Amino acid sequence: MTDAEALLATQADVAFGTPGAWVQVAALDRVAGSSVGDRAVHVLADQPVTAEVGVTLAPAHQGSGLATEALCAIVSILFEDHHMHRVFSQMDDRNTAVQNLFGRPGFRCEARQVEADWFKGEWTTVRYRGVGGGAAAGGAVGADPCQRRRRAWRRR
Ligand SMILES: CC(C)(COP(=O)(O)OP(=O)(O)OC[C@H]1O[C@@H](n2cnc3c(N)ncnc32)[C@H](O)[C@@H]1OP(=O)(O)O)[C@@H](O)C(=O)NCCC(=O)NCCS
Repeated sequence: MTDAEALLATQADVAFGTPGAWVQVAALDRVAGSSVGDRAVHVLADQPVTAEVGVTLAPAHQGSGLATEALCAIVSILFEDHHMHRVFSQMDDRNTAVQNLFGRPGFRCEARQVEADWFKGEWTTVRYRGVGGGAAAGGAVGADPCQRRRRAWRRR
């Protein structure tokens, strides 16, 4: 069994938004219908209105805005359909592409933990970025930060 098949087997019975489970959601090219990457979504078991997300795009499709569109689509679903309070992501502090990706729809920097993670043979500094939250976070509870961007895409 390949890694991909093993991953799919673990997800067969897991519904999107199930607290405690990581779910991979494919990002498809709307014209070709082929997969260009995926989004990983994890609704926290002990905070079921908080979700963690990650995005990976195949190298051939990077640098075209597709990851931003894929991220915004999943964030909108989390806020509008699953009524999340806050969505966040954690990333290698040196990863400029992912910092830029999450910065575009307004994920604020919430924390930077120095050499907090032993990853691929070295200590890695981890940055946390998030959107949502209430007045304390400068936002409105339940507001979808990606709404404006999605309206622009629909008009294209
Ligand atoms: C993180 C990752 C998904 C970002 O991908 P990306 O291609 O940089 O992001 P986008 O698809 O949104 O493309 C944005 C770039 O395309 C450019 N672009 C070109 N045409 C564009 C268009 N029509 N609309 C928007 N952006 C466009 C943007 O200017 C931007 O370039 P810049 O960063 O040089 O300013 C990718 O680097 C990746 O898969 N990395 C490996 C996995 C990883 O680290 N994931 C993070 C885990 S949380």
